[in-house]
Amino acid sequence: MPKKLPYGRQSIGSREYELIKEVLESDWLTQGPRLGQFEGALKDLCQTDYAFAVTNGTDALYLACRAAGLGPGDRFITTPITFAATANTAVLCGAEPVFVDIDKNTLNLDLNLVEKALQADDSIKVILPVHFAGLVCDMDRLADLAGQYNAIIIEDACHAIGGQYQDHQNQWHPVGSCHHSAMTCFSFHPVKCMTTGEGGAVTTSNPDLARRLTLLRSHGITKDPDILEKNDGNWYYEMHDLGINGRLTDLQAALGLAQIDQLPQWQQRRLELVKKYDSDLAELPQIQTQQRPQNEDRSCYHLMVIRTENRRELFDWLHEKEILVQVHYIPVHLQPYYRKKFGTKPGLCPEAEKYYSEALSLPLFPAMSDQDQERVVQAVKDFHQRAK
Ligand SMILES: Cc1ncc(COP(=O)(O)O)c(C=O)c1O
Repeated sequence: MPKKLPYGRQSIGSREYELIKEVLESDWLTQGPRLGQFEGALKDLCQTDYAFAVTNGTDALYLACRAAGLGPGDRFITTPITFAATANTAVLCGAEPVFVDIDKNTLNLDLNLVEKALQADDSIKVILPVHFAGLVCDMDRLADLAGQYNAIIIEDACHAIGGQYQDHQNQWHPVGSCHHSAMTCFSFHPVKCMTTGEGGAVTTSNPDLARRLTLLRSHGITKDPDILEKNDGNWYYEMHDLGINGRLTDLQAALGLAQIDQLPQWQQRRLELVKKYDSDLAELPQIQTQQRPQNEDRSCYHLMVIRTENRRELFDWLHEKEILVQVHYIPVHLQPYYRKKFGTKPGLCPEAEKYYSEALSLPLFPAMSDQDQERVVQAVKDFHQRAK
């Protein structure tokens, strides 16, 4: 049997074992020093003022939406081509989704349609763009639109940690710098570009949002003497808002610390693999790939997505050969929950629906060898040879 090739996989080395062992032997499995160290490393990577490492990417998005004050009566814009959590977290806050279609080349939100949606609806409070597969949205233009219509941008960068993007003045910004947004959210699930098992983070450069995030991540509880209403003694705390336990453990933070140091080399390997896929697959007219930025050398790609009209057959063909491709994503507005609760239906986002009917994610992870990649490309070529 050939070796199974998943579409994504974590890389774990000796440094991960070392740092986790240290935590296991220490007094602090959680709420210890590793969490702050990991948050410091995230701040350095993103070149921003505040980083909060949290339980997972879903909680990162939920906390960011809560910190932004999203609630009942508000609407938010997002893309249907994302994991359900992007929309779910804003809905959990009581807000209503406005699904805006994707651009067929970038597979990110179509910003002309975002503009139209903002013009048509003054209850839109938040825009949740997703940097799909690691391709960063046009943040300059989005920030202009958000400014014009008084909307708050929360970046869902669960696919894009470690990447940098260029603005319209050709200045580089790390994803997570929040140069064009209020907050940025990350996921550290094992298939992502770095992992803490489960885990996520919110970054921001806004001190008020940072205060809200601090409170909401810890049950809404504070011991801060500056905001306590009274003080009964050293044990005393007060609950000022309704929050969650969103803390990452020190075991996970240790894993994250070991991983984050290796992110630049993994980013390079992902880029190399994506470039090779792009050039090898260019021979096949039946396959389209995602648009790349003009200068892509600082992108950190999470997924290698392709489009083909024979997606279903190709999916089965590759799985038979132990190449475990996936589909990202089933459009969120077509999920039964959204259809029943918000009346969304087929035809609402035609580009997203067409993309879904053709989408396939090929294996992409740093430990993938050149031979592994050749095997995937050959299998895709063989399929098209056979289909002739
Ligand atoms: C775009 C996107 N948003 C949100 C999430 C949720 O992250 P997590 O699985 O860490 O909760 C994911 C991860 O699956 C994702 O890919």
